[in-house]
Amino acid sequence: MKNASPVIAIDGPSASGKGTVASRVAEALGFHYLESGALYRLVALVSSRAGMGLEENELAKVASGLDVTFTGDQVLLAGEDVAEALRSEAMGNRASDIASLPDVRSALLERQRGFRQPPGLVADGRDMGTVVFPDAALKVFLTASVGVRAERRYKQLNDKGIRANLASLSRDLAARDERDANRAVAPLAPAPDALVLDSSDQPVNQVIAQVVHWAREKLESKPDR
Ligand code: DC
Repeated sequence: MKNASPVIAIDGPSASGKGTVASRVAEALGFHYLESGALYRLVALVSSRAGMGLEENELAKVASGLDVTFTGDQVLLAGEDVAEALRSEAMGNRASDIASLPDVRSALLERQRGFRQPPGLVADGRDMGTVVFPDAALKVFLTASVGVRAERRYKQLNDKGIRANLASLSRDLAARDERDANRAVAPLAPAPDALVLDSSDQPVNQVIAQVVHWAREKLESKPDR
């Protein structure tokens, strides 16, 4: 896709730090930012508020009809800021179930591609490099061991005053990885041309600097992208 705005795709499992890394990389490059998981979480939130189960048709309709605006840290759902509500483990788990439904994924596809605007986009999720933006200028697969991710999530929750249990967080993350990696459509997996970055033993600033460095290298070598 010549002359389209460049995309930096950052995929990886839950709690790998991809949200923090992707938003900081977007800031450093002056690019737009898409947190695609928020869209799946929004479908989870809207449908659970409506008392719905997991019917694919109904959920696909919710996905096509989402009235959402992202502004800074706010996620405005028909004008209501639901950023905090989306973060709960319950919404993450429901989002993971919903994300296995092909019609929901198709319903969100064009909406995600719409975020690709000049001067460029950093997008994080599970299938940014494999399905949504296969022509991304740079694809990073950011990972970390389950133990490290569970500890990071535990600390995040604790900092927010939410009580959590490390062992059960670790079990939940492993179960979610399993579901995301084994679903039939757009499973969690590195694109063949992705650079895999294991952040288990690296401070987040170092990971950000590495991705910005790779991005600049790719963007400079492909001026028409
Ligand atoms: O990144 P996250 O934890 O906010 O995502 C929540 C769930 O949404 C995750 O378990 C899998 C799903 N998801 C997906 O299937 N594809 C994406 N691009 C982003 C998220």
